[in-house]
Amino acid sequence: MLAINFSPFPVLQTERLLLREINVSDAAQIFKLRSNPVSMQYLSRPVMKNEEEAQLLITRIKGDISSNTGITWAIALKEQPETLIGTFGFWRIEKENYRAEIGYMFLPEYFGKGYAKEVIFCGIDFAFHTLNIHSIEANIHPANKASEAVLLKAGFVQEGYFKENFFFNGSFLDSVIFSLVKK
Ligand SMILES: CC(C)(COP(=O)(O)OP(=O)(O)OC[C@H]1O[C@@H](n2cnc3c(N)ncnc32)[C@H](O)[C@@H]1OP(=O)(O)O)[C@@H](O)C(=O)NCCC(=O)NCCS
Repeated sequence: MLAINFSPFPVLQTERLLLREINVSDAAQIFKLRSNPVSMQYLSRPVMKNEEEAQLLITRIKGDISSNTGITWAIALKEQPETLIGTFGFWRIEKENYRAEIGYMFLPEYFGKGYAKEVIFCGIDFAFHTLNIHSIEANIHPANKASEAVLLKAGFVQEGYFKENFFFNGSFLDSVIFSLVKK
């Protein structure tokens, strides 16, 4: 069984970005992210209606980190470390299978700058070499071509296509499953 300990919190850095712990002071930016229709378009999660919902999410994220069951980082530009521009994490970890599910999102003004690629490469390296994860899963909406492109660049392969396996907002949605296995 995989043993995980997120204490002390693992701060990571890429060339341009800082991946730091999410704090209660990030609630306004989390709300901005989770209420943005462009960022949320393919997430199949309810769009947030107020900052209290962002506070609840932050509490849940902190709880997962404390219990070593999942981790989500705030993404910030190195020169503006206090401003959250996106989130990245392994929000579901199957310790018995040494497997984790990846998740990431940015505010639209930060799309198309190579930031997702930068973060995912860094996160994969951390998962395989520090956490000792053996495989990483990504579950995406079939129309999310930006997410698919980033996953393919990072070496993920499509392993499955589930028809109408996810019920959201009154509809049954398809899911595409990608994975990356440690070499
Ligand atoms: C998915 C997401 C993280 C991609 O972020 P990004 O920072 O724009 O991606 P990058 O700039 O790092 O692009 C990486 C590669 O994907 C390609 N790409 C990005 N968006 C694309 C699109 N819409 N269609 C096709 N290719 C795309 C880029 O051209 C780039 O390729 P390159 O290295 O050859 O130039 C971003 O669109 C996002 O936050 N979306 C909303 C949340 C979301 O859907 N998250 C994923 C849930 S599974």
